[in-house]
Amino acid sequence: MIEFQFNRFRAYRISMKINDLSQQDTVFNQFLAEIRDVDIQGDSLRFRRNLERIGEIMAYEISKDLVFREKPVTTPLGTADCRIIDEQPVLATILRAGLPLHQGLLSYFDRAENTFISAYRKHHGDEDTFEVEVEYMASPTIGGKTVILCDPMMATGTSMVLSYKALLERGTPAHVHVAVVIASERGIRLVEENLPSDTTIWVGAIDPELTSRAYIVPGLGDAGDLAFGDKE
Ligand code: URA
Repeated sequence: MIEFQFNRFRAYRISMKINDLSQQDTVFNQFLAEIRDVDIQGDSLRFRRNLERIGEIMAYEISKDLVFREKPVTTPLGTADCRIIDEQPVLATILRAGLPLHQGLLSYFDRAENTFISAYRKHHGDEDTFEVEVEYMASPTIGGKTVILCDPMMATGTSMVLSYKALLERGTPAHVHVAVVIASERGIRLVEENLPSDTTIWVGAIDPELTSRAYIVPGLGDAGDLAFGDKE
């Protein structure tokens, strides 16, 4: 098990760049509505595919922040002055709910390196109290690279912060993008307090509340169960 200290008690307020993709009316909002909707989300194939589509849109939006370079490309009829991504990001995902979102990002950043981190809620008897434990990570080195750390639901923000701290065992990234479909205000605050101040946050929605079991309200329920079925 990996244990870390949080910077919960920082006295100053940091303001990260937050891109809320639901603020503009695009097809993104249709996919977001479908994963929230109790009459649609029960179709797990559609639920996973919608998370993938959201990941694809997020990849497109994040690509606008990446560095490009010129590349002359030979066509059958001549040479075209093209621009291509200079460096592929590392896609880091928290298991298991992050997998469809990861797949969507990977569809667009198709040469990316990949990190998988297992973070789970370890309950102590009752359902309301738990700790998040990070037990396993498979990752390339990330020193000097751009990392996209994704998780569909960011409730307390603890899994995101612990996953970031775990990643640091593989080096210090040049830049971190946090990609989340639904975040709570509390989760955003914890990330702002514990990740580098130049981190960019990409969200599909920021919801106001958490239940006593740290589920986001209105949220969508349990993303892992909706995508992959119940667990013990
Ligand atoms: N994880 C989920 O799947 N849903 C929530 O509301 C919070 C965490």
